[in-house]
Amino acid sequence: MKKSFQLFVLLSFWVLCPVLGQTSYPILPKPLQLLPKEGTFILPQNPVIAVASTDPVLRCLAEELANKIGSVTGKDTKVFAGNFRVKDGINFVASKDDKLGEEGYFLEITPKRIIITAEQPKGFFYGIQSLLQLMPAEIYGVRRVENIKWSIPCCLIEDRPRYAYRGLMLDAARYFYPVSFIKKYIDLIALHKMNTFHWHLTDDQGWRIEIKKYPKLTQVGSQRRQTMLGHYSDQKYDGKPYGGYYTQDDIREVVRYAQERFVTVIPEIEMPGHALAALAAYPEYGNNPDKIYQVGTKWGVHEDVFAPREETFRFLEGILAEVIDLFPSQYIHIGGDECPKKQWAESRFCQELIKKEGLKDEHELQSYFIRRIDKFITSKGRKMIGWDEILEGGISPNATVMSWQGIEGGVAAAKQRHDAIMTPGNFCYLDHYQADSKTQPIAIGGFTPLEESYSYEPTPSNLTPDEAKHIIGVQGNVWTEYMPTPEYVEYMTFPRACALAEVGWTAKNDKNIDDFKKRLDVHKKRLDHLNVNYFEAPINHKFTYRWPLKK
Ligand code: ACM
Repeated sequence: MKKSFQLFVLLSFWVLCPVLGQTSYPILPKPLQLLPKEGTFILPQNPVIAVASTDPVLRCLAEELANKIGSVTGKDTKVFAGNFRVKDGINFVASKDDKLGEEGYFLEITPKRIIITAEQPKGFFYGIQSLLQLMPAEIYGVRRVENIKWSIPCCLIEDRPRYAYRGLMLDAARYFYPVSFIKKYIDLIALHKMNTFHWHLTDDQGWRIEIKKYPKLTQVGSQRRQTMLGHYSDQKYDGKPYGGYYTQDDIREVVRYAQERFVTVIPEIEMPGHALAALAAYPEYGNNPDKIYQVGTKWGVHEDVFAPREETFRFLEGILAEVIDLFPSQYIHIGGDECPKKQWAESRFCQELIKKEGLKDEHELQSYFIRRIDKFITSKGRKMIGWDEILEGGISPNATVMSWQGIEGGVAAAKQRHDAIMTPGNFCYLDHYQADSKTQPIAIGGFTPLEESYSYEPTPSNLTPDEAKHIIGVQGNVWTEYMPTPEYVEYMTFPRACALAEVGWTAKNDKNIDDFKKRLDVHKKRLDHLNVNYFEAPINHKFTYRWPLKK
């Protein structure tokens, strides 16, 4: 009897310990190493943040943390910068350590003090995110909360990401979202230690970025006559004009805001397909200059695409030159997906060009188109990204591929020693249903529950180690045909983006769905304080895969 009780105690300890551990340290994405320690650091009445560096960016980060702590806890929090250290406060220590890299950090919490060590400001930023996640979730709110104990559990953390590219895309072409929401989206990207916001700015149904050289792009291309009502299959329209665009000042404001949160903004300007809004403004760059084009009102793929004429290249280069000036990102995304070849097949000009350039067919003509654009982008010192269709007809020399039609595009790119970002629909398309469609607001279709997103392994197993180095990261894609409002976007994006953040950050063998879900339960309280309209799985929601899992 006694023995069995001892065994029971031992087993309970064994079972409970990891559970307690997980919820006491609910950091999401899960850090590389976390060693729990005894005790807690209690935020003192007058917390001090000491910055052992003269770097003004670190001082800024410390001041932001102090403002956050001060405004929510009501404690007067001070920053001392310029080689200060304190025995009983929060310390930022800049240090060179091969383990750290650009994004890594160490976080040490003892009952007396906290030390964040990093090499670069970005590492400090991520260390701060982890520190905040170890505080009560109320720290994410805007209201003062004085009646709780501001305690932080002791531990030792060593952390850095698995992949260099961790992104979230937003389609602002199908619907336009205000700058205030774009900033909130960027905040949420940063909260999850993702580092890239891919901004889909142009499509058939709307051109959303001001281009000074071509004002009609927004005067005409940002407005559509009406919008589909209900699902595509209903073939109904609302009869109401819809429009909106970002001015160049808006763009600069967003880019600056993102930089302050260590998020790179990659603009996407679609070509040669998904071009109807641009052609409505400038029909002379289409294949049928006499045609009256109208900004798309139907979802789906339209057959009106750019004509590969010299004038079109000059037009697109004029647009890209302004885009490159606005966005300091290394990457510029040029779309390249879903370009129907019908108009090129029927065009005398295109057929002659195919002959003149010694191309095999319209797929090679697309390749020719993309190569020209790649050359321009490369000449400006930037790198081009395209969806995986840019592999058809031969990949352009400097292109990075975004693999969306499964993983094959990423595999093909990596085998040709091109970088690839993995966004396969089954796992990464956050416009799919996330529960039984009968229980859900309207979505495009598909079925990608949280567990499926979490299960994704971005590096395909059939690559050699050298090829695998070209898989630089993972991204969630939020296409918005069925998301007319920011609240709708939040509902579809979260918490699946939390799962993808962990896919991008956490070591492959450290991922565990049960552990993730426990941390997610705490994380949702943070999202509540941040006023995020995330999806909650219905009670007893059974998770089943509709598709065979592709790995
Ligand atoms: C895509 O989903 N058409 C990239």
